[in-house]
Amino acid sequence: MNEILTIGGVSAKALAEAMGTPLMVYDQAALEKRLNEFKTSFVHSEFETQVIYASKAFSCTAMLELVKKAGCGLDVVSVGELEAAKHADFPMREIVFHGNNKTPYEIRTAIEYGVGSIIIDGAMELDEVIKSAVQLRKKTPVIVRINPGIEADTHQYIITANIDSKFGVSIYERECILGMIKKIHDCEYLEFQGIHIHIGSQIFGIDPFIAGIRKIMEFISDIEKAGYPVNVLDLGGGFAATYTEKDMPLPISLVCNHILLECKNQKDSLGVSVGKIMIEPGRSMVAEAGLTLYTVGFIKQTANKKYIFVDGGMSDNIRPALYGAKYRCDAAEKMNAPKTEKVCVAGKCCESGDVLIEEAMLPKMEPGDLLAVYTTGAYGYSMASNYNRLPLPAVVFAKDGKARCVIKRQPYEDMWRLDTDTQINL
Ligand code: LLP
Repeated sequence: MNEILTIGGVSAKALAEAMGTPLMVYDQAALEKRLNEFKTSFVHSEFETQVIYASKAFSCTAMLELVKKAGCGLDVVSVGELEAAKHADFPMREIVFHGNNKTPYEIRTAIEYGVGSIIIDGAMELDEVIKSAVQLRKKTPVIVRINPGIEADTHQYIITANIDSKFGVSIYERECILGMIKKIHDCEYLEFQGIHIHIGSQIFGIDPFIAGIRKIMEFISDIEKAGYPVNVLDLGGGFAATYTEKDMPLPISLVCNHILLECKNQKDSLGVSVGKIMIEPGRSMVAEAGLTLYTVGFIKQTANKKYIFVDGGMSDNIRPALYGAKYRCDAAEKMNAPKTEKVCVAGKCCESGDVLIEEAMLPKMEPGDLLAVYTTGAYGYSMASNYNRLPLPAVVFAKDGKARCVIKRQPYEDMWRLDTDTQINL
């Protein structure tokens, strides 16, 4: 008897039959658990704390509702993400607005909507924010993003790395930063909240975070000595998820505890006034709760490889092609069958690099079999494209043996919905 994969108590086979494939399936209870875990772990008696979900990892109305319900804030990086939040009735005060090249329209919209803070990414942007806040006569809280000269890459971190990053203002540009903070203070429509850093993504250990906190707290002490109190320290995101057996992130409660402990130690030893600590996890909130179901089509044996072709690919998951990301998979209707074959799982896009898993061990697969690729919940759907005019997959949330569709499969009509032939009046 073949064992069938279930998600949230729902059979993968039943979901695929009802919804078609490729299909993204989230275990809703896992999403809720993760949101709660962050929310309850990131607390400290001496700091106000806020967990901000980075909506770029995966956003849809149902997801934003879960984030809202859990009492977390939201990180948006464009008016598109902001409008999606508005559509989901997300409280604007709980939103931070990021981005290295916000357009004047985006800046105005963020101010008009009354977001919780605009993260100022550079000196020129600050001038634009001042202009809009003054025009709109609206008090706007801002945080200055600093590139702390620490870059984390999985377990390691490098000090003074990437001073040429396109994000934030380098910590080594002290005068520029102090000048920006002075300008903020001098503008009656801006409120200086504090400092932001983000040191990288898919960080497994805590050392990179600790290094980042130490370096930025020293800098904060310097800013405060220059006469500018810093209330908020936003530490960004970057917490790792488990994609393969090799990935072993520390429990999130432990990471949160260490971060807050280090903040407290630094606050005490440097005597800084920081009163609120924020984090912005994206990937670690949603990656493991999601998987993608594909149907196997043709199978091809080449001189050195056995290809299993699936009905999606880089159009719904660009990460293997873009970052060399690794994934695990299973034959969703043959969960207990011995994995006897080494295969290469490839997508259907016209691109040699459209390989989802270079080497996977699977039971013997036949056309029509269902394949589940795990941990696709972050930066999968949100980075999906219509390459080769493949429609975006549907997304479902499964919980307690029930499932609901939260994003419909994109209809083919969408492929020409925006096509037109209209004269432009110049
Ligand atoms: N905050 C800021 C300012 C960020 O730039 C990011 C991610 C986050 C928070 C959330 O980081 P997370 O917790 O998800 O690591 N597309 C890439 C990841 C790009 C991350 C960009 N910034 C991927 O698929 O691996």
